[in-house]
Amino acid sequence: MTPDERREALESIAREVRVCTKCRLHQSRTRAVPGEGHPETEVIFVGEGPGFNEDQQGRPFVGAAGGLLTELLSSVGWKRDEVFITNVVKCRPPGNRDPEPDEIAACRPYLQRQLEVLDPALVVTLGRFSMASFMPGARIGSAHGTVRAVDPETGAANATAYAMYHPAAAFRQAAMRSTLFKDMLGVPEALLQARQRRAHDEETAALPADGLDQRASVPPPEDEPPPTVVDAERDVTPAHDVPAATDARPAVTRVNDEVGTVADVPAPTSAPDADATGRQLGLF
Ligand code: URA
Ligand code: SF4
Repeated sequence: MTPDERREALESIAREVRVCTKCRLHQSRTRAVPGEGHPETEVIFVGEGPGFNEDQQGRPFVGAAGGLLTELLSSVGWKRDEVFITNVVKCRPPGNRDPEPDEIAACRPYLQRQLEVLDPALVVTLGRFSMASFMPGARIGSAHGTVRAVDPETGAANATAYAMYHPAAAFRQAAMRSTLFKDMLGVPEALLQARQRRAHDEETAALPADGLDQRASVPPPEDEPPPTVVDAERDVTPAHDVPAATDARPAVTRVNDEVGTVADVPAPTSAPDADATGRQLGLF
């Protein structure tokens, strides 16, 4: 799929989501929230469902949890518009209640199609409901910070899942904040593992993926600079200026040369600056 075809396919899904009436959540929504991000990314973040601000704006993770997600991404040198961000349900459950199983099931085809189009190497799950879709049976207390091969039935043909707590958990429990930043530091390493698995699977196409849980270790600072967000095989034109690549690999971005340590985690900030967040964003 060319970048233009990918972009158009994602837009087409988004148009359907915006007028969808397949479950009761459409009755109380202001706007549906299809998701947004870079169409050529290798990494998708999947949350639970829109909250108040997302429902108002029609965009994912733009409230307080979104501000924290943006901070988490920048702690590994990534920007929101270099990944794809969406949710298990695309419309806000009233009063931010948990999504019901039938609502999740009704909405599942949209996420599945997004995954088919994006063909991500890495699916980062945010919270229990998202984790349940990609690591069935896992318990978040032990699964956070770990990877597992994704069932192709999800739509992601050859992906690795990496589980994290939901950013909003940090607002209920202060200690969760450092757990989130610590787990985030494992994401670039999880992407490297995901790429290795894909490369390996391409070589040995007949063999099943090794679906074992494995704790993704945080790479030591002297490691190779971790990953570009874009797949080597995708013929993408850089979305914005990038440093000259030393190899032929096209890049939307590179993460920091050094992955920070937990001690480097920025001090807590108060309410996110919505304008600044908005400026960073590029809708696909
Ligand atoms: N929480 C989520 O799970 N998703 C959003 O988009 C915002 C908050
Ligand atoms: Fe449709 Fe999903 Fe919204 Fe339900 S939550 S109305 S299935 S888009």
